[in-house]
Amino acid sequence: MRIDIVSLFPDFFASPLSTSLIGKAIAKEIVEIHFANPRDFALDKHHRVDDEPFGGGVGMLMKPEPIFAAVESLPNLNRREIILFSPQGEPMKQDLFKQLALLDQLVLVCGSYEGVDERVGEHLVTKQVSLGDFVLTSGEIPALALINGVVRLLPGTVGKTESLQSESFESGLLEFPQYTRPQIFRDWRVPEVLLSGNHGAISEWRYQQQLQRTRDRRPDLLE
Ligand SMILES: C[S@@+](CC[C@H](N)C(=O)[O-])C[C@H]1O[C@@H](n2cnc3c(N)ncnc32)[C@H](O)[C@@H]1O
Repeated sequence: MRIDIVSLFPDFFASPLSTSLIGKAIAKEIVEIHFANPRDFALDKHHRVDDEPFGGGVGMLMKPEPIFAAVESLPNLNRREIILFSPQGEPMKQDLFKQLALLDQLVLVCGSYEGVDERVGEHLVTKQVSLGDFVLTSGEIPALALINGVVRLLPGTVGKTESLQSESFESGLLEFPQYTRPQIFRDWRVPEVLLSGNHGAISEWRYQQQLQRTRDRRPDLLE
């Protein structure tokens, strides 16, 4: 997969994209990541990327021309989605990550300041995506979250694919509780069934825990 990040702050991504499983996925060429900085596509002598909103209002908006030029400079692979991060977009969910993981190219447009000129959302991007019902200063953190969630689904990124299948949201339920050594920590014991070696009983216990946990913590998932 190819990911193009359209951002005024490419340095922001250096550490998160070079460490952990994502860094390894890049090293293994499971994913390639490129940057396009709208500032490099601003043609005036000050490389200006923002301006005041028409009609008045606080703060500055990202101008459309440098964003359009940055995106239009990119190669266009077969199956691609151009995503603008916005608190007004579709919420980031596991199902969205699964759909995006099937594509050849993701172009991720990170807004800054008070947001971006509306014409970017209307005429350039194919999707708008939100990290949640809150407002951040810019789209770089949502972009990192999306990259992380999508790249870990690409074949070869995570060692055992079974570990992906049992995780929260995969079956519409939250994951069951998990324990590791020691069996007793500060008087808190690992549930006996997990030590029993009875795989049928363990599966049933885990499924009941998933149901209970989802009912308690995220009843909306069961509806
Ligand atoms: C300060 S926000 C702009 C918010 C915008 N004025 C509004 O009220 O909808 C600046 C940029 O941060 C990003 N951003 C902020 N919160 C976000 C969220 N919850 N999800 C996705 N992107 C977000 C977007 O790219 C946005 O253009």
